[in-house]
Amino acid sequence: MKGLRDISVLFLKSVAGKNCRLLDSTAASGIRGIRYAKETGIKHITMLDINKAAALSARSNSRSNKVKAEVRAESIQRFANTTERRFDIIDLDPFGSPVPQLHDLMKIIDGNGILMVTATDTAVLCGAHEAACLKTYHAKPLHNYLCKEVGLRILMAHVARVASPFNLGIAPMLSISDMHYMRIFLQMSSGAESALNSLKQTGFCTFCGNCMEFSLSKGTIPAFSHLCRTCGRQLDKAGPMWIGNLYDKKVVGKIAMLAKGMADAPEAQRKLEVINGEIDVPMFYSIPKLTKRLRVTAISPSKVIERLVAAGFAATRTQFDNDSIKTDAASSDVTSAVLGR
Ligand SMILES: C[S@@+](CC[C@H](N)C(=O)[O-])C[C@H]1O[C@@H](n2cnc3c(N)ncnc32)[C@H](O)[C@@H]1O
Repeated sequence: MKGLRDISVLFLKSVAGKNCRLLDSTAASGIRGIRYAKETGIKHITMLDINKAAALSARSNSRSNKVKAEVRAESIQRFANTTERRFDIIDLDPFGSPVPQLHDLMKIIDGNGILMVTATDTAVLCGAHEAACLKTYHAKPLHNYLCKEVGLRILMAHVARVASPFNLGIAPMLSISDMHYMRIFLQMSSGAESALNSLKQTGFCTFCGNCMEFSLSKGTIPAFSHLCRTCGRQLDKAGPMWIGNLYDKKVVGKIAMLAKGMADAPEAQRKLEVINGEIDVPMFYSIPKLTKRLRVTAISPSKVIERLVAAGFAATRTQFDNDSIKTDAASSDVTSAVLGR
């Protein structure tokens, strides 16, 4: 997880002041809190871990790294329901799903705070276990090449729904899907209107496995047909999920720039470079899947991007899949670019 911790350090360097009150709510060895203190200069760090042995090691690791931090052997649930304190930044990095901890963290995050959430139950979010996704995230996933982005958007929408009764809205600053984890970095904003505005950024997606066309609809009630308009086949559906932006591109640009100066962080540099170049539109096209469906010879994603850009569209690589592209072009335009017409 070093690469992900590097990105978190770079993120905090870009957005957090030294006087922030930071809670590393699932500290384990304390490595995150310690790195945040030493590399970003944040002064007020509290670490929690439900596991006594973990809290002991976080305490002794903090001491041996000369980091002044408050370390508590306590669960998030107990801490959040007994403290009057509020935190400007909260890091939640549990094993598996973050859902059981989210509700309590909403009670102690500052109304304009920053929440960083990791999920490692990617098989669930990516649709390998559809019933588990319904149970945990109250959402239907997709189990095809779009699954990582859909899973990340399901996680995001879930956080928006948990935040909303606390009159908190969310705005994604950075979103990452890599290997076995997803991580979202959110700017919270207080007020009923902010909460409602976030909910308005959620909705549903349909996907035709035959034509590989997707469509998105915002709102709490799915407003789409069940059959593909092009081929008449039954559509696959997913959601509720986040339909809005995944990034604050100004923040991403700043972090990507900072990453270049971070020695020994090649993984973070690579990931941030792709994200920095990626256009922030929902979903993407798998070029190998398209060429297979069209029964034409393989073509590189870069070539398709080049043709789309020459035709006046925005088109880029995506962090979600090396063989895919994101574009604002319609699927028919992508097909033309693949065929070279
Ligand atoms: C994946 S580890 C954290 C790893 C760490 N953040 C890192 O970067 O190495 C998850 C930790 O969360 C702790 N944990 C799980 N549930 C918790 C809860 N409800 N409250 C506080 N800590 C919890 C576990 O004991 C475990 O040490």
